[in-house]
Amino acid sequence: MRPLIAGNWKMNGLTEPSVALARAIRHGLGDASVEVLLCPPATQLASVTGIVEGSGIGTGGQDCHAKEQGAHTGDISAVMLRDAGASYVILGHSERRQDHGETSEMVAAKVRAAVKAGLIPIVCVGETESERASGAQEAIVGQQIAASLPEDFDGVVAYEPIWAIGTGKVPTSADITRMHDFIRKELIRDLPEGANLRILYGGSVKPSNAAEILSLPEVGGALVGGASLIAEDFLAIIRAV
Ligand code: G3P
Repeated sequence: MRPLIAGNWKMNGLTEPSVALARAIRHGLGDASVEVLLCPPATQLASVTGIVEGSGIGTGGQDCHAKEQGAHTGDISAVMLRDAGASYVILGHSERRQDHGETSEMVAAKVRAAVKAGLIPIVCVGETESERASGAQEAIVGQQIAASLPEDFDGVVAYEPIWAIGTGKVPTSADITRMHDFIRKELIRDLPEGANLRILYGGSVKPSNAAEILSLPEVGGALVGGASLIAEDFLAIIRAV
């Protein structure tokens, strides 16, 4: 399966810079052998989708509600993301788990809603710094996988150690390999499609470390935060595959 390089713009992007960024990525891409995905804020999703249309670049949301519609002020459903042009949705990002108290069970409900709406879910898992310091990282990630992925899950898993997000700290290649191998084993044990699902790495991926991280055997791509907001950096990461 082609590697997936996804840009998570998080809560960044007014109209003008979003349009400029999407255009620059589209025009700079050339013949990429990887799958490229942009996940702008929901307010920019339709316009970014329009800009990349026909280029092979996809778009995704950053979260969705578990229900299709109704009295949920401020929320956005998977159907709405699909309607705005998304093909993917990021779910269970640690910033959602931490800032909004999202549990793995809530993430699983969102995954079901996303799949029902025709979206491919990218489910994020990862440990805190203290959990890693105490050696609990596999136990934590194992629990998150077991509870966040429905038994017929068919989508993408993103390993994002929380302590590596936006910090410039990155696990060693050996640590990434160990965790991705562990995730693969869990997926194979629990899911019919477990051997074939892509496992992305996320957390301070940048042009200078992308080639090494993306060459690791079970790394099927990257979920990029900060560096996805700079067109040259994001394009350099794509070219590093
Ligand atoms: O979802 C991407 C992410 O959390 C990593 O962010 O800024 O460390 O690349 P960053």
